[in-house]
Amino acid sequence: MMNTLKTYFLNLNFFQSSNPYNQPDDHEHRSNIIATRVYIIIYGITLSTLILSLWLSANISQVTLEYPTQNQFQTLPLDAQCPCSRISLSYGQFVSIQTRFHQVCSSDFISDRWIKAIFYDSDATYLYRADFRTIGSAQFRALSSLCDLTKTSISRSLASFNMKSIISPYVLSQSVIQSEVQTSIEQFRLTTSNTFVKQLEFVQKMIIGNQLLSALQTNIAPLYVQIFNGSLQLGYYMVYNISNDSYCDCQINDNCRVPSGIFKELKQSYINILFDNTQLMSMKIDGFSAGCMPMDSILQSTLQCFYNQTCLNELLSFLSTNESFTAMNISKYSRFEPSSTVKEIVNELMVEEWITNISYEKYYAQCAPIQCTYSKVEKHDLVNVLTTVITFHGGLTLVLKLIITHIVRFIHRKKDNEPSSQISCTYYAV
Ligand SMILES: *[C@@H]1O[C@H](CO)[C@@H](O)[C@H](O)[C@H]1NC(C)=O
Ligand SMILES: *[C@@H]1O[C@H](CO)[C@@H](O)[C@H](O)[C@H]1NC(C)=O
Ligand SMILES: *[C@@H]1O[C@H](CO)[C@@H](O)[C@H](O)[C@H]1NC(C)=O
Ligand SMILES: *[C@@H]1O[C@H](CO)[C@@H](O)[C@H](O)[C@H]1NC(C)=O
Ligand SMILES: *[C@@H]1O[C@H](CO)[C@@H](O)[C@H](O)[C@H]1NC(C)=O
Ligand SMILES: *[C@@H]1O[C@H](CO)[C@@H](O)[C@H](O)[C@H]1NC(C)=O
Ligand SMILES: *[C@@H]1O[C@H](CO)[C@@H](O)[C@H](O)[C@H]1NC(C)=O
Repeated sequence: MMNTLKTYFLNLNFFQSSNPYNQPDDHEHRSNIIATRVYIIIYGITLSTLILSLWLSANISQVTLEYPTQNQFQTLPLDAQCPCSRISLSYGQFVSIQTRFHQVCSSDFISDRWIKAIFYDSDATYLYRADFRTIGSAQFRALSSLCDLTKTSISRSLASFNMKSIISPYVLSQSVIQSEVQTSIEQFRLTTSNTFVKQLEFVQKMIIGNQLLSALQTNIAPLYVQIFNGSLQLGYYMVYNISNDSYCDCQINDNCRVPSGIFKELKQSYINILFDNTQLMSMKIDGFSAGCMPMDSILQSTLQCFYNQTCLNELLSFLSTNESFTAMNISKYSRFEPSSTVKEIVNELMVEEWITNISYEKYYAQCAPIQCTYSKVEKHDLVNVLTTVITFHGGLTLVLKLIITHIVRFIHRKKDNEPSSQISCTYYAV
């Protein structure tokens, strides 16, 4: 069986002698067998190259999808081009920013009730200037206005942020929108807080520059002052005893700062800057400072005591009020420490948390792409390859037949060099 197959292949001949008398010609027969082998090899190589290249090469076609839904869009390849029907979209249409403010802005301590309760309505002239009863009410009014001002500032900035537009000629992917909007929000937060802090500093500087009198006479007052040498002098100033041998004059340094507290009432209406205010102190309010201006001094204060009901009640016991107030909740999550100064909180616009919601659904609905075009890369399937091969087959055999016939004839002519034995090979089958 194997032998027959072997002899069959050894004698395989597609070419027939065109000898008119069909006389056996050994030489020609051998040539035809060789031609057949060459033919099979070339045919095989060409065909397999063709099949392989077809199989490996990809077919690229352009696909267009009309009115793609968001779900369809998300399954499209990344290079899909989906022009938006609106190129410019405003952030307000798909971004919402909300803020959660520091708990002090919703606490008792910015209420009118508190501000009225701590206001000392009897003559404050006999009180030390750093006494909480002198300056506290004004400080908390300043704190309350800081809450209002930051809220107003944020909502004004938000209105202009919402009007800002994003240019999106094509539908942008969710991750691109996310990162783009996040960057804008970050920018917005920085700009808003920088603007606010600058404005606040400007107002503070203006007050000091113009030597505006604080209504509470905490920065400047016509007072008799006992200087270090013991003499009394009438002067228009406010001085705070800082240490044994130095004091702070509000006209020279607008940042005078002394611990606030409840002090014993003075017997004279002049200020003895040499007095030891620690001896006069009945209660020290932790972290709370007094100074030339209520706004400056509240900014430099911390609200530690107002997180502690014990501390708050002790303070209330010195005030002429029967009302009760609740301390802030120290266990409530906050990005600020209880020991953070009000300035540190205000620098962050008193915001605990920015709650942003970037709605990709809304973005997509606003962009409303009319169509998507993308190129689809496909492998040729088996049917496709076979069809191409069959189409190609006819031409291939014809060309091979011609070439090989001519080559074999040429070789024969050269070998025999006899004009009489002309050989013509005819292809007869495959
Ligand atoms: C105290 O100092 C002031 C100026 O600093 C001076 O005018 C006054 O005479 C001094 N009084 C005494 C008693 O030395
Ligand atoms: C204020 O002045 C008095 C009197 O010399 C002094 O004993 C005290 O230490 C000074 N400083 C403070 C912070 O009270
Ligand atoms: C102030 O002076 C008193 C004694 O006169 C002294 O005991 C105290 O340590 C001094 N305080 C400062 C802050 O220097
Ligand atoms: C609360 O304040 C009181 C009195 O000022 C103090 O003794 C206590 O340690 C404070 N508690 C906390 C948790 O800070
Ligand atoms: C506080 O309450 C007492 C009685 O409960 C009352 O006599 C007093 O007038 C009240 N004081 C104030 C300031 O309301
Ligand atoms: C304080 O805040 C914590 C955490 O938010 C909460 O569990 C607790 O009930 C609050 N306490 C009061 C008195 O509101
Ligand atoms: C964002 O807003 C959409 C509606 O506008 C809402 O369905 C979604 O739950 C919000 N997402 C968050 C995290 O708040």
